[in-house]
Amino acid sequence: MPRGNQNKKCNVMGKTIIISNRLPVKIEHNKNTLIYKSSEGGLATGLNSVFKRGDNLWIGWPGLAIEKAKESEVHSKLMEQHMKPVFLSNEEIEDFYEGFSNETLWPNFHYFNQYTVYKEENWLAYQRVNQKFAEIVAEELEDDDTVWIHDYQLLLLPQMIRIISPNSTIGFFLHIPFPSYESFRRLPWRRELLNGMLGSDFLGFHTYDDMRHFLSSVNRLAGLGNSNGTIKVQNRLIKADALPMGIDYEKYADSAQDRNTLAKEARYRESIGNVRLILSIDRLDYSKGIPQRLRAFELFLGKYPAFKEKVSLLMVVVPSRYSVSKYKQLKEEIDLLVGRINGQFSKLNWTPIHYFYRSFPLPALSAFYRISDVALVSPMRDGMNLVCKEYVASRLDRKGVLILSEMAGASKELSDAIIVNPHDVHQLVEAIYKALTLPVKLQIKSMTSMQKSLKRYNIHAWVKLFMDELENVKIEQSHLKTKLLDHQLSDEITYTYKQSEERLIFLDYDGTLVGFNENPNDSKPDHELKEILTLLTKNKKNHIVIISGRDRQSLEKWMKPFSLDIVAEHGVWIKRMGKPFKTFIKINSNWKKEIMSLLERYVNRTPGSFVEEKDHSLVWHYRKVETGLGEVRTRELTSHLKYMTANENLQVLEGDMIVEIKNSEINKGKAVQKLMKIYPKADFLLAFGDDFTDEDTFKALPEDSFTIKVGISASEAKFSVNSYREVRKLLSKITKN
Ligand code: UDP
Ligand code: G6P
Repeated sequence: MPRGNQNKKCNVMGKTIIISNRLPVKIEHNKNTLIYKSSEGGLATGLNSVFKRGDNLWIGWPGLAIEKAKESEVHSKLMEQHMKPVFLSNEEIEDFYEGFSNETLWPNFHYFNQYTVYKEENWLAYQRVNQKFAEIVAEELEDDDTVWIHDYQLLLLPQMIRIISPNSTIGFFLHIPFPSYESFRRLPWRRELLNGMLGSDFLGFHTYDDMRHFLSSVNRLAGLGNSNGTIKVQNRLIKADALPMGIDYEKYADSAQDRNTLAKEARYRESIGNVRLILSIDRLDYSKGIPQRLRAFELFLGKYPAFKEKVSLLMVVVPSRYSVSKYKQLKEEIDLLVGRINGQFSKLNWTPIHYFYRSFPLPALSAFYRISDVALVSPMRDGMNLVCKEYVASRLDRKGVLILSEMAGASKELSDAIIVNPHDVHQLVEAIYKALTLPVKLQIKSMTSMQKSLKRYNIHAWVKLFMDELENVKIEQSHLKTKLLDHQLSDEITYTYKQSEERLIFLDYDGTLVGFNENPNDSKPDHELKEILTLLTKNKKNHIVIISGRDRQSLEKWMKPFSLDIVAEHGVWIKRMGKPFKTFIKINSNWKKEIMSLLERYVNRTPGSFVEEKDHSLVWHYRKVETGLGEVRTRELTSHLKYMTANENLQVLEGDMIVEIKNSEINKGKAVQKLMKIYPKADFLLAFGDDFTDEDTFKALPEDSFTIKVGISASEAKFSVNSYREVRKLLSKITKN
């Protein structure tokens, strides 16, 4: 398994543990003996290529309920190949695999909600089996190992492993689509599923759409926003990104010229005769659109009769999930359709559809890819679809045409294919016609371009990218962790505080001393905060400064009982203890009228939003706006504002559910400098703040000050804490001295 960037300091040094429900090897009964075969499906075939035996381990289910007496034999045999089996009982197969995984998650994630089964006992089994996997992983997991979990059957596993081993490096990749919030929200267990996934450090999806659907559900259901895919989950920073899976290009290109393949192709050609072939290869699955494809082929033969006896459909359907009732019904539907079309059009010397309900090994598949003029890949939904990529890689003469559904993840990369909407049967018919009549020159042009892209973004590049991203998240986490205020650091601050003669302490208000409220006027100091401020300000050695973006009126009202200084509106106003507010800056606020009318227009269009007017700034609040709409309006508003303020001395700031417009002359740093001049003897400087406006405070303070950021993200502050509660804790601790 290729590793991350070796030049970086990293913790990716141990083995990689791949975990998927299905192992790349499946076991079948043959009378009394067990036979080991390769598994089908994109996950197993794709990953198997990069799973170098070495030190790595693959944990998963071998595809059958194995009787107890044979478990140890299977275990040893698989361990020889660095695979560790998870044995599932018949009941677990029924409830976890067939039930929750394939009758609940699969249809929901593929937008087949009419097929979704909601059964509590299946959900319980899903939890139990994910826990079973977690325990087996725990037996193998060592510090420095990297855990790589795959697919929808194991959505709870990341969090379960995180609980067992909190510092583990955990990556997760979803091989199927992540549905839009509108589909995902139907699942009664949606929050638990998301929380399970959020136990990962890095989450990969095939396409940008999958990633944004995931982030949208995280926002709406877990209440967590993101910045370019980076999400703060409690005190951890994790990341989601789009990383389309590639194929082992060389393997398919090499196999296409292998002697074995060529011999097979010659045999097939001899038995099929001189007809042109359209290839269709899928697992038996309603997401693949097989009946729709058959109907399109039937219509095509009716509409373009000149192709009768000249073209056949070579259709491979690989048996899959046959015990799930929808799959059984689908098999019957396909059998009937093939029978009907062949019955209607066949001639003694021509069969319209060559239909195989079985799986084939690679040389046979390669021969199919070589022999077919057209590949018709038209799933109704597909996370990626590797078959279309394998077809392209196998076309060594660069001839041949790919028809590809826009609903397959692969269509985002293979835009040179003939892209179709699989619901539009007439478009499918025309696409078949176009493919069969496309001039060779154009075939070579688009095939060359697709091959170039697939060679570059092959499976090795995909694994490296995944591992690099995972490693980068861990590096970022460890930077933030070294800053996190621990016992030792807080003892050190307390000790220095005790030793000092005169202290100057800057306290931002919202998000630092109190949490955020839907209504900013509801954030007045509570009992605990009042006690802390009383103790802090009673001590004659302390100068306490509340330094906030708020208007001076509320700050003055709320801070009345305490002997402290106040900086309001980000530094416009400074109020010394017992004296009125004063400003030290000459500011022109003529701009407010025009900006206010723009903000009012946004308020009219955005229910729940409102404008707060301060002496020298305006703030648009969207905390109460429908999730998503606020963010969209903010993007529109900020670009509008940036355009309007280009020639003014104004700054547009995006904060926690707000957009603030203020004069750029004003910043907290200037006020801090002013106060340091007022208290030049202070030998202990401490500042707390939670947002970008506090960065100016941190920057203005001398090197030996204690600067503490609330929240985990990059900051000029030396240390960080997770929430305002920890700020209160530290302040209470120092006041006891
Ligand atoms: N495949 C196979 N034998 C067959 C038919 C298909 O090994 O007889 C492989 C095929 O080469 C591909 C995988 O199964 O690598 C199917 O992956 P895809 O992503 O297209 O669909 P999935 O089955 O994962 O939904
Ligand atoms: C898709 C899924 C895989 C699954 C495969 C075969 O590729 O993403 O997780 O293994 O289909 O399905 P099966 O149910 O046989 O494992």
